[in-house]
Amino acid sequence: AEGLPLSGKKVLITAGPTHEAIDPVRFLGNKSTGAMGFELAQKAADIGAEVVLVSGPTHLSITHSGIQLVRVTSAQEMYEACHKVYPDMDVAICAAAVADYRPKHVASEKIKKKEGDMHLELERNPDILLSLGEHKKHQFLVGFALETQNELENAKDKLERKHLDAIVLNSLKDDGAGFGGTTNKITFIDKNLEIKTFGLKTKPEVASDIWEEIISRIHA
Ligand code: C5P
Repeated sequence: AEGLPLSGKKVLITAGPTHEAIDPVRFLGNKSTGAMGFELAQKAADIGAEVVLVSGPTHLSITHSGIQLVRVTSAQEMYEACHKVYPDMDVAICAAAVADYRPKHVASEKIKKKEGDMHLELERNPDILLSLGEHKKHQFLVGFALETQNELENAKDKLERKHLDAIVLNSLKDDGAGFGGTTNKITFIDKNLEIKTFGLKTKPEVASDIWEEIISRIHA
């Protein structure tokens, strides 16, 4: 569509948790539902963007002619799916809750219980957002930060360290905000450290606010 705020723009969004295999029937995961990323994708497509939505395992589905949904399972798969399309993107938003660690060895058969404790050795996963920051050319790159302490300082630190253009700080301190819920309370911080705080809103409303902030900066 022409004449919409994101007409002609290509957008990459990551969403959901990742599942890191332990054996054929077990994994390490987290409580992310993917809702925020899916809302960001829906909103972007509604206002004209061509969206690649790379999502970890979620119960959500989405159909929109402007959205290509790429389903992945692990952080490594998400990393590869993102880098494949990133050079061609105008905006990238990492809203996925990527596992920081994965089991070092994946058993090929279901692990049997034994007497006593069991130890699971973990190794680091790639930081997708950091790597996109390191490969950044013209893209406007946005990350999320979910902090429980020194929120603002940690978010600013992340903004610089990962070479971001903006970061969305997700408050966990307020009722109804954060993982799993239907509402969110965010603070938007850009690379000039201009800070804007929003009230408690539904996730579709939050997605609109985030896009409004991004659009004012890519068209500036
Ligand atoms: O460093 P931290 O995990 O707190 O940063 C959160 C941000 O980084 C989110 O935008 C998340 O999507 C992204 N991230 C990522 N790959 C990882 C870890 C985090 O893309 N392995």
